[in-house]
Amino acid sequence: MKQLNNRNVVITGGARGIGFAVAEACLRAGAGVVLVDLKAEDLTIAADRLQGGDAVHCHACNVADEEQVKALAQALKATPGSLDALVNNAGITRDNLFMRMTTDQWQSVIDVNLTGSFLMARHLVGLIRKSEWGRIVNLSSVAARGNAGQANYAASKAGVIGLTKTLALELARYQVTVNAVAPGFIETEMTQAIPEAARDEWLRKIPAARPGKPSDVADAVVFLLSDDAAYITGTVIGVDGGLGI
Ligand SMILES: NC(=O)c1ccc[n+]([C@@H]2O[C@H](COP(=O)([O-])OP(=O)(O)OC[C@H]3O[C@@H](n4cnc5c(N)ncnc54)[C@H](O)[C@@H]3O)[C@@H](O)[C@H]2O)c1
Repeated sequence: MKQLNNRNVVITGGARGIGFAVAEACLRAGAGVVLVDLKAEDLTIAADRLQGGDAVHCHACNVADEEQVKALAQALKATPGSLDALVNNAGITRDNLFMRMTTDQWQSVIDVNLTGSFLMARHLVGLIRKSEWGRIVNLSSVAARGNAGQANYAASKAGVIGLTKTLALELARYQVTVNAVAPGFIETEMTQAIPEAARDEWLRKIPAARPGKPSDVADAVVFLLSDDAAYITGTVIGVDGGLGI
């Protein structure tokens, strides 16, 4: 039997990057996936690339907008089959040195990365609990410990760890585990946007001497979603080639 046979997993930010790799890995493991992302056209392209047939569903939704998240929860409620797991992967950066950071840059990152994870968990937890088997995996970052130029992002990703641990405590009795993965430097559009000199500096610091691939993160997420991780809750798994040591 495959690791995630017949489980249904919602993946935010699933249209590209790490979220897309998580969707690929979940499908290979036998799960059905619900891709959530901002634009319907990006979701259609992603679903075509996945070639998962009936096992792939898509919903356009801004995770930072509570009304849209509520509407998504209603739509999922009306869908036949169980909802077993949520991967809170949608995330953004708006980097700037703290002395120059605008309130808008601060707030937009907190809204998507932290409040978005809260809203998705808050409005889907009832459905996930119904399965009497549930998983929530949140994307934190090695930057949660602090990173110059990313006060907003670091605070959001440290907040995600606090959210993860608290939900783990509150949901353990319902057989719902809640964990986080903290990637290091992974090659996606997010890191392509980093200026070359800063990229080179990051890459020099990685003990494994290579950047991570989205599939490196996806493999850890699938493990946390699987039955093999049933007794693991409230943890943060670094997927960083040693960068976070
Ligand atoms: N790439 C890295 O090196 C790295 C390192 C540590 C943590 N992470 C985290 O991993 C996650 C995925 O990162 P990535 O590198 O794949 O990023 P990415 O920018 O390539 O993809 C992010 C996806 O999230 C979607 N998204 C953004 N805002 C959204 C919103 N409000 N509602 C719904 N969807 C939204 C985007 O449209 C995009 O498809 C993020 O949470 C990121 O912070 C990435």
